[in-house]
Amino acid sequence: MAEFDEAAELELPDPIVASEAHLHRALGPFSLIMIGIGCIIGSGIFVITGHAAAEHAGPAVLVSFVIAGIGCLFAGLCYAEFASMIPESGSSYTYAYATMGRFMAWFIGWNMVLEYGVSAAGVAAGWSGYFVSLLHDIGLDFPAAFANAPVAGTGLHALHATGAFMNVPAVALVVGLTVFLVIGVRESANFNGLMVLIKTGIVLLVILFGLPFVHLQNLTPFIPPNEGPWGKFGISGILAASGNIFFAYIGFEAVSVAAQEAKNPRRDLPIGILGSLGICTVLYILMTIVLLGVADWRTLDVENPVSFAVSKIAPLHWLVAPIDVGAVVGLASVVFVSLYGQSRVFYCMARDGFLPRMFSAVHKQFRTPHYGTIITGVLAAVLAAAFPLDILAELVSVGTLLAFIAVCGGILILRVTAPRATRRFRIRYVWLIAPAGLLICTLMMVSLFVSSPDTLSRLIVWTGVGLVIYFVYGVWHAAPSKWKVSNES
Ligand code: ALA
Repeated sequence: MAEFDEAAELELPDPIVASEAHLHRALGPFSLIMIGIGCIIGSGIFVITGHAAAEHAGPAVLVSFVIAGIGCLFAGLCYAEFASMIPESGSSYTYAYATMGRFMAWFIGWNMVLEYGVSAAGVAAGWSGYFVSLLHDIGLDFPAAFANAPVAGTGLHALHATGAFMNVPAVALVVGLTVFLVIGVRESANFNGLMVLIKTGIVLLVILFGLPFVHLQNLTPFIPPNEGPWGKFGISGILAASGNIFFAYIGFEAVSVAAQEAKNPRRDLPIGILGSLGICTVLYILMTIVLLGVADWRTLDVENPVSFAVSKIAPLHWLVAPIDVGAVVGLASVVFVSLYGQSRVFYCMARDGFLPRMFSAVHKQFRTPHYGTIITGVLAAVLAAAFPLDILAELVSVGTLLAFIAVCGGILILRVTAPRATRRFRIRYVWLIAPAGLLICTLMMVSLFVSSPDTLSRLIVWTGVGLVIYFVYGVWHAAPSKWKVSNES
């Protein structure tokens, strides 16, 4: 499907490398895989899978995982080829700039704020629920008025006040992680590595100890018949669930954001992107088999479906507390890498003139974009204080899917405009894989709009705000095109 070109190593385009003198190149392939897994395994598998099975697909949510996984694999291959050609931070924002010019770069960069900044806030809010219930288990009760968002309701018309003041644990998490991110990329990578080891260890425990308790009758009927409305089981339910659980896969592309802090970006970024995605896809499918095989899928629409399902099996009661710890650590690492990704995307956008220069200032001692990181943390903390995960999750998925679609399209554009440019990693059947990735991502996005039309209205409002900022600021400060990739690159 793809191959590495060893000889391509020597042909690094110097102007790109010269622009990145300040950030610290501290990340090797292992750290990059850890960054990917850090951002992938989180509320998607620990929370959303239960809802997708109970409300949309039943046991066939496994098929939804495969569909979303194939879409992500194809998009991941395109990310890998881009990352091996343009070893620049900024991920899809930078790739869009290189292939489609200033306007599309801004459009994708603005949507990446959903993918990272808004995602960090949403997952922090989800984390707070797990954290407060862990505290409760050890006899400490956090006052509900300070552990919940003041608003709830997924539809715009359904928004209502909850009576709560603000989500204090979510804010504390974002602030604490922001401090770590300011201190240094190596320290951050080590801290992330520790969190990833804990959460993947717990996922492996669930799989190993849960598999012997899987009962095949829990998986039948595999595709429950459609109940009438679109997305309520049957084939449309599988599609709706794939849009839902796509959230679980978001994160592998964060590896490409780290290009300027990678030791050998052209070789290691593809390894980090595809390695983290491959590992998580296998873990997800096995974990979903356990989840659906040990409990009745109709009962899984709860806040903690994994520990809930395992609690149904007496010999596995000891696993319930570690699963909750795994979820708390897992969600925290997603928030961590998302904040990291957002600060680096802002860094690139400011460097290119779309945002004030302050976002691209690098601290002399820490060698991190400190102002950008702090501003990212403050914005995410405000959102996390005010909104719950479910209001933000679908918007995050749509923003990410738009970025994936741009990357799948962009890789084809480069095959036409710069067919002989150096590609350290080259997709073999690109004219099959990129269009298929584009099609599957579009399908998941449409299925999200159909099952939740409010997501479309929110995206339109978001895009409108982005356009105002672009025409008031960006268009006057950013160059029409940048990072042109030519056959000589
Ligand atoms: N993939 C990340 C999660 O599931 C965003 O929390």
